[in-house]
Amino acid sequence: MKKVVGTFLLALISWHTGVAQSDQKMNRFIDQLMAKMTVEEKIGQLNLVTGGEATTGTTVSTDVESKIRNGQIGGIFSMSTPSKIRKTQEIAIKQSRLKIPIIFGMDVIHGYRTVFPIPLGLAATWDMGLIQQSARIAAEEATADGINWAFSPMVDISRDPRWGRISEGAGEDTYLTSKVAEAIVYGFQGDNLAAHNTMMACVKHFALYGAAEGGRDYNSTDMSLHRMYNEYLPSYKAAIDAGAGSIMTSFNDINGVPASANKWLLTDLLRDQWGFKGLVVTDYTAVNELTAHGLGDLQHVSSLSLNAGVDMDMVGEGFLTTLKKSLDEGKVNLEAINRACRYVLEAKYKLGLFEDPYRYCNEQRAESIIGSVANHAKAREVAAKSFVLLKNANQLLPLKKSGTVAVIGPLANSGPNMPGTWSVSAELDKTSSLVDGMKAVLGNKVNMITHLGSNLLEDSTYQKHATMFGRTIPRDLRKEEEIIAEAVKVAQQADVVVAALGESSEMSGESSSRSELDIPKNQQNLLKALLATGKPVVLVLFTGRPLTLTWEDAHVPAILNVWFGGTETGKAVADVLFGDVVPSGKITATFPRNVGQIPIYYAHKNTGRPYGNSGDFEKFKSNYLDVSNDPLYPFGYGLSYTTFSYGDIHLDNDILENNGSIHASIDITNTGNYDAEETVQLYIQDLVGSVTRPVKELKGFQKIFLKKGERKTVKFEIRVDDLKFFDSALNYVVEPGDFNVYIGPNSRDVKVKAFKLL
Ligand code: NOJ
Repeated sequence: MKKVVGTFLLALISWHTGVAQSDQKMNRFIDQLMAKMTVEEKIGQLNLVTGGEATTGTTVSTDVESKIRNGQIGGIFSMSTPSKIRKTQEIAIKQSRLKIPIIFGMDVIHGYRTVFPIPLGLAATWDMGLIQQSARIAAEEATADGINWAFSPMVDISRDPRWGRISEGAGEDTYLTSKVAEAIVYGFQGDNLAAHNTMMACVKHFALYGAAEGGRDYNSTDMSLHRMYNEYLPSYKAAIDAGAGSIMTSFNDINGVPASANKWLLTDLLRDQWGFKGLVVTDYTAVNELTAHGLGDLQHVSSLSLNAGVDMDMVGEGFLTTLKKSLDEGKVNLEAINRACRYVLEAKYKLGLFEDPYRYCNEQRAESIIGSVANHAKAREVAAKSFVLLKNANQLLPLKKSGTVAVIGPLANSGPNMPGTWSVSAELDKTSSLVDGMKAVLGNKVNMITHLGSNLLEDSTYQKHATMFGRTIPRDLRKEEEIIAEAVKVAQQADVVVAALGESSEMSGESSSRSELDIPKNQQNLLKALLATGKPVVLVLFTGRPLTLTWEDAHVPAILNVWFGGTETGKAVADVLFGDVVPSGKITATFPRNVGQIPIYYAHKNTGRPYGNSGDFEKFKSNYLDVSNDPLYPFGYGLSYTTFSYGDIHLDNDILENNGSIHASIDITNTGNYDAEETVQLYIQDLVGSVTRPVKELKGFQKIFLKKGERKTVKFEIRVDDLKFFDSALNYVVEPGDFNVYIGPNSRDVKVKAFKLL
């Protein structure tokens, strides 16, 4: 045993020495390079421009080639293919004075060419292995296409589904989002950033972007430090601790200082407290936007941003055009420019670009890997596992593979909407629609008929905004009633109706906030008409966020929420609807009953006048006159075709010693008729504290597979670390006293057991 420890220690020491040596080698290389650089060339490295394939603002980069020649560009994003990237890299290597390679970024968010479900759907799998694999495949494809920097993971916690970008993250929970963040970082970066098939991750949006007031995009955030530290910051920290090489500042104001000029955030917290050693880049023109925030003119805000700790300026060129002047006028110092330049050069060094600037440009690899059959198969598997069965009355699902199925609705025949928002590298014209995907799986076993049913939205201007970037849905110019009447005739010929309704992909994502979260009224009218036929109706719901489905839940027998499942959506929907895959997804953001309940999240505080959960109004309690406090579907909720029964929690000890751990176990039995997966969730509540604590917090989960009739014991370790939190002085503490542990299939339907921390 001793020997093993000894060997391990030696290995550790030599590993550390190895790391230190490679750091020294990198530092020497960068020292030598920087010694040759002019101030202008250093400032040039801080300039990140767009290659124009996808833009998220009104400013677009110009004169890119001549700027590369002049050493005025450090990085380019939204450019792809090995040939284009090689050609651009050649300008830097052959025509610029110092031949510094360019770093190439891209929004690789949920897949690259092969698209996986939107991140909110990915999180609903609760399967960190699969999420990591999806990021690995995305990195394999993107790096084969010349790209070495992914603007992902997005780890912004959001408890406000009005915010369209809730679709891009893992939902409302701190613990789960942190786990997803780690999985994605590992997936992108692997264990060697310099390998030709790994890429640098970029954690975003730092920070608190998901807490925008009123759910309106780019809006301000005002939040106590206590809440930040306990609830909103840990997911960024988790991604950094997992080794993420870069971080992106957010657009929003934080307690009066916008993130991109926030020295407390970017230096005191990120660098000094958290020890982050990677690259800090802004979001799109976020430096310029500091002027509209009211912080001053471009020169001033650029100096503020650099001094706050930003290294690279995305698209706006405030750094490029003003930092030299600010240096001459003493508004910034050379150390700050050197610091920023060093972080950019280090990122390039770690990616191996100084060794081989064309490392990521390999046409053959691109051809064999991008969109491969294996990648598509994985995307189909992940998509099916992301779907959440919200309701299944009388076991309407799964459907029989026979008879006539009518697939009706504005999402039935739109391939370009299937990949979902923020899938800039998807091949929209080659993505199958829901109907085509389903036909490919079912062949002629099922007679499939289809109809538009209704427009996506009655208002054509709204529909235009909701179908941007090629995500078209054909528009029928007739009156909605006429379209619906025709669709009803199609439904009448079928044995079962699949209503493909909800949002288009661009109704969520950036700049797609909504004030109403229902299925658009004209689509609801279609749904009512379909139900009135008396045919069994399955609602296949497309959405990038929790919607308010109170009416649907009361009237539609089966609801399968499929988010936007990516390239293989259609096939995956067929897999689940017809029972080849048993649904196992669980929501990671609470579904409210109405918009007035927002913000709504399971880990809320008790208040001094807690509501008794009776469902009825209680005078002088913290509740609403017109709606219960309960959500429609709680965090962690999702049904299966089978049923699971949970036994009681057994604790191996109800006293937890400081520094020790105890174990909670529970028996789970598959009591239904299908072999299936189940995600078992563990929550903890700190009953008495020096500060108020949430009613429960997720602290563990396990995904298990149970054959029908099978029983398994699931065991969780509860460690003292799981009970820690930031107190009112922001010390990370654990306070002895009484706790509850809850285990269940979701955050509501849980078993409970008490324990004590000494
Ligand atoms: C703006 C978005 O907020 C961010 O997520 C994205 O990475 C950049 N644009 C670059 O496209």
